Amino acid sequence: MKRKIGVLISGNGSNLQSLIDACKKPDYPAEIHVVISNKDTAYGVNRASEAGIPAHILDHTHYKSREEFDKAMHEMLERHNVEIVCLAGFMRLLSPWFIKQWQGKILNVHPSLLPEFKGSHAVRDALKAGVKETGCTVHRVIDEVDAGEIILQARVPVKVGDTEETLLERIHLQEHRIYPEALKMVIGQLAAM
Ligand code: GRF
Repeated sequence: MKRKIGVLISGNGSNLQSLIDACKKPDYPAEIHVVISNKDTAYGVNRASEAGIPAHILDHTHYKSREEFDKAMHEMLERHNVEIVCLAGFMRLLSPWFIKQWQGKILNVHPSLLPEFKGSHAVRDALKAGVKETGCTVHRVIDEVDAGEIILQARVPVKVGDTEETLLERIHLQEHRIYPEALKMVIGQLAAM
């Protein structure tokens, strides 16, 4: 039986798309039951709708606190019987409360080889640091930003003349490959428990 996934987004949703595409395969062990965006402009919402996946916009500015917003997300995820939460370009910090509710069951993809270049400017920071190689990481989410058990990483060369845009494009290709793979691995671990 396929595991039920909820995906949280804030923007373009190219990683969401890679998960949608993977879930279409009959032998892939997951299906996306709901997509939640905190931004009404997120293109990822269209991707979900096109794939026939329920998509909800929960505007965080309409909630009094981070935890109230997270509680609304939690309810929505429960309503859709979600078992694993995938962050895919979700640009909000999660409250300790939410992380505890979903302990070990939240995954994130980050555009660097963690623990290198944590934070929201990972690609820019890698370029500035002059590294020859960077990459991307899928990790479990804990109550510390861009930390948590690393599930999979992929390396990407930094080329002469790279801009943030060209480097990010190269990183994205790898993210789209490793995120579905990492999710599959995590599901395999759940099944073995
Ligand atoms: C990705 O680069 C991911 O690493 C970071 O946010 C970006 C989201 O891109 N967390 P997209 O919305 O999936 O296209």
